[in-house]
Amino acid sequence: MKTKLKIGSLELADNLLLAPMAGITNLPMRLLAREQGAALCFTEMVSVNGLVRDGEKSFALMRSSAADRPLGLQLFGDDPELLAAGAELCEGLGDLIDINMGCPVRKVVGSGAGSALLQNPDRVRSIVAAVRSATSLPLTVKIRSGWGADTVNYLLIGRIAQDEGADAVTLHPRTRAQLFDGHADWQHIEQLKKTLTIPVIGSGDLFSAEDVLAMLNMTGCDGVMIARGALGNPWIFREALALQRGSAKIPPAPEERFSVAARHLALFAGTAGERVAVREMRKHLCWYARGLQGAAQFRAAVNRLEDRAGMEKAMYDFFMQR
Ligand SMILES: Cc1cc2nc3c(=O)[nH]c(=O)nc-3n(C[C@H](O)[C@H](O)[C@H](O)COP(=O)(O)O)c2cc1C
Repeated sequence: MKTKLKIGSLELADNLLLAPMAGITNLPMRLLAREQGAALCFTEMVSVNGLVRDGEKSFALMRSSAADRPLGLQLFGDDPELLAAGAELCEGLGDLIDINMGCPVRKVVGSGAGSALLQNPDRVRSIVAAVRSATSLPLTVKIRSGWGADTVNYLLIGRIAQDEGADAVTLHPRTRAQLFDGHADWQHIEQLKKTLTIPVIGSGDLFSAEDVLAMLNMTGCDGVMIARGALGNPWIFREALALQRGSAKIPPAPEERFSVAARHLALFAGTAGERVAVREMRKHLCWYARGLQGAAQFRAAVNRLEDRAGMEKAMYDFFMQR
C-alpha cells in the first residue's frame, strides 16, 4: 500500500497526520506523535483576529521547535483579508497553512468562522483566493460535510477550494448539526476523492490502526488525520504504518507506556512549567490509562495530584507494576 503523501510542495514521509485539537495538540503532544510516525502535525486552531492584533496567546499556540517539523498551522476567522494577513504573519513559523471550516463550537460559528463558512460558498472562495495569494506555503482547508442534513455541500466546497488553489482538502464527514453524534459518513470521503484531483485527507472515527486501514481502503483517500484516537495513544501511528506495510502491529508494553507518558510530562513541564504541566497531564494520563485494569482508581488518584514527583510515582506504580 502506498504510504507517501505530497501536499503542494511538501513531501511527507507517510500519509498519517495528527489532527488539530484545541487545548490538546501542543508541542509535547506533537513531538510524541511524530516519534511514532505522524508525518505532519497541526497546531490547534489559532484566531487570525488574535494574530493580527499581535496577541501573545495566539502566537504562543504556534510555539514549536526544530524537531516539530513539518508543522501545519491552523487558522480560523471569517474575513478573507484578515485571514490573508494572518497567513503572512505565519511565514517562517510552520510549513503549511490550514483554514478551519469545520469547527462546530458555538463561539466560533457565532463569529462566522469554522463550519459557519460552509453556509457561504462565496465567502469560502474569497478566503481561499485571498490566502492563496498571501502565502507561498502549501494551503489546505478542513471542512465538514455541510451545515445540516439538508445542506450537505462538501463536494461544492471542495471544488471551490481546489479551483482557488488549495493543495489538499481534509473532510470530517459529519455535518455541523451532528457535532460528534452518530458516525462519520466515510462515503463522503470516497465521493470527494472521486471529485477532486488534489489530495483528499480523511478524518473521523479513527480509533485504531485497523480503522485507519479501513478508511484508506474504503475511500481511496490519500491520507488520514487522527484526532481522538491519538489521545493517550501515539502508538496508533506506528501501528497503522505497520498494517499498511503488511506487518503486524506492535502494541506498547507497560514499560513503553510508562516511559512515553513520563516523557510527555517532562516535555510539558519544560514548555509550560511544572504547575501547568501537572494540571494538564491529568487528562492525558486518564487517556493513557484507558482500557487498563485499575484505570478508574488511577484516574481518581491522578486528578487529586498537585506535584510532579507525586504524579511520576503514581504513573510508575500504575504502568510498571502490572
Ligand atoms: C477536543 C477536540 C478539539 C478539536 N479541535 C479542533 C481544532 O482546533 N481544529 C479543527 O479543525 N478540528 C478540531 N477538532 C476536530 C478533529 O480535528 C477531527 O476532525 C474530529 O475529531 C474527527 O476525528 P476523530 O474521530 O479522529 O476524533 C477537535 C476535536 C476534538 C475532539
